[in-house]
Amino acid sequence: MTEIAFILNGTPLSVAAEPTRTLLDFLREDRGLTGTKEGCNEGDCGACTVMVTDETGPRALNACLLFLPQLQGKEVRTVEGLAAPDGRLHPVQQALIDHHGSQCGFCTPGFVMSMAAAHATGCRDHDDTLAGNLCRCTGYAPIVRAARAAEEAPPPDWLPSFTLPQISSGGTVSGESPSPGGAAANARPAGGPGGADSPPAAGCRPTSLEELARLYEAHPEATLIAGATDVGLWVTKDLRDLSMPLFLGAIPELRRIEEAAGSLRVGAMVTISDLRAALAPRLPGLADLLRRFASVQIRNAATLGGNIANGSPIGDTPPALIALGATLHLRRGETRRDLPLEEFFLDYRKQDRRPGEFVEAVTIPTEAPGLRCYKLSKRFDQDISAVCGCFNISVEAGRVAAARLAFGGMAGIPKRAAAVEAALLGRPWTLATIEAARPAFAEDFTPLSDMRASAGYRLEAAAALLVRAFHDLQGHPVSVLEVEA
Ligand SMILES: Cc1cc2nc3c(=O)[nH]c(=O)nc-3n(C[C@H](O)[C@H](O)[C@H](O)COP(=O)(O)OP(=O)(O)OC[C@H]3O[C@@H](n4cnc5c(N)ncnc54)[C@H](O)[C@@H]3O)c2cc1C
Ligand code: FES
Ligand code: FES
Repeated sequence: MTEIAFILNGTPLSVAAEPTRTLLDFLREDRGLTGTKEGCNEGDCGACTVMVTDETGPRALNACLLFLPQLQGKEVRTVEGLAAPDGRLHPVQQALIDHHGSQCGFCTPGFVMSMAAAHATGCRDHDDTLAGNLCRCTGYAPIVRAARAAEEAPPPDWLPSFTLPQISSGGTVSGESPSPGGAAANARPAGGPGGADSPPAAGCRPTSLEELARLYEAHPEATLIAGATDVGLWVTKDLRDLSMPLFLGAIPELRRIEEAAGSLRVGAMVTISDLRAALAPRLPGLADLLRRFASVQIRNAATLGGNIANGSPIGDTPPALIALGATLHLRRGETRRDLPLEEFFLDYRKQDRRPGEFVEAVTIPTEAPGLRCYKLSKRFDQDISAVCGCFNISVEAGRVAAARLAFGGMAGIPKRAAAVEAALLGRPWTLATIEAARPAFAEDFTPLSDMRASAGYRLEAAAALLVRAFHDLQGHPVSVLEVEA
């Protein structure tokens, strides 16, 4: 058991719980707050959406993939706590009534909470906001109309006010200012880590890099938990008991983004949402790809470190980062080492990571105006890649001066297309060159057929994405919806 202190619908709580108890189970079973629904229990449907606020502001998150220790020092708001104590409705609740957007009792609470979080942050991309709230029964149009109608309403005065994160040169994005619960709420839960020789206590949350490095080196059998969007499923779907969960969320250094000339050093615990915001002005092609990463709720939890460390062949960030020539920073105890990201992925689910070693940060080169990234999946939103192709191509005097092409979904690991690159380098940047390079895709890749795509489709699609990159770089972009509708 571990002690967790957080604020629930305005009331400070101190809870003793198993470290892998999900917020969803706690709300429904322990608190009787059954407005938060259990649909898929795996992050797909959004029926369990709640609003969680920390020093970075309010965010919509899926309660089914949140372990209670991840909430330490934060404020949680459920659908029961959204209206004022005197019964006045939140503007999005009122707008849903006015615009006939209320649907069944199963999906509506999740829609309401996603809309409330978007309202709190001033987000007006309502399609994006609602992409993680699934309903297959009726329609989204009245809900989007309601979200638009609520845009101008001021934030309700009965909810706390928040500030959004700032990115500063060489500075910090998040993680260092006090949480809404104050310093006491940030404190490590009771039963924190002991010395290096004693196993980490249940729900252990190291608060510095040094502490994490020491603990994990001594106990490499521990399970690191970042955003829990993968690990959560090991518990909710595989019903696994996690050995020694070590939560990474209280280490400020891991949540930093630091800018240097021509690059960003991104801490492993930076979420995909924050990464996307940081990249938008620097690498818009990659930021656009991250718009296609799962849903708002998942992006608000999922981290860059988790996306790399899980070693998935279809993770969305590795192909782009490999195409950019990103460097991975690993640490084990006092030993640090850097390696090109592409060398980290050795074989299917096998990475160059030693026992007790963790991902500390990734350095991402940001001067790549030619970078183009494309994700092909069965649905536009909230879907895993069948093929993800990323192209970092420089053209000088009409010829290909440099080319780094990397793909997800084409092999057991995210992988560069070395033969295709060789077939392009030094040649005129024309469709004829691309056509001549086409057979090289089969030299680089022997993809699998699975439920997402056949091997033949993958090879065809990868080559077609290079053609698309050509048109994009020529200034004749192909509309995303034309291609992917
Ligand atoms: C509904 C849904 C949709 C998804 N859609 C996408 C998608 O579109 N694209 C995509 O790429 N992924 C997707 N995912 C997968 C998942 O969200 C990502 O892989 C995510 O980046 C994992 O990050 P996390 O912080 O949640 O990792 P966790 O689940 O916390 O950890 C994942 C693994 O990494 C390890 N780990 C975490 N941090 C570190 C570290 N710093 N050092 C060493 N090891 C570490 C953990 O021990 C674990 O083995 C989806 C998942 C869900 C549930
Ligand atoms: S229950 Fe479906 S996302 Fe949580
Ligand atoms: S799931 Fe609620 S109306 Fe479709």
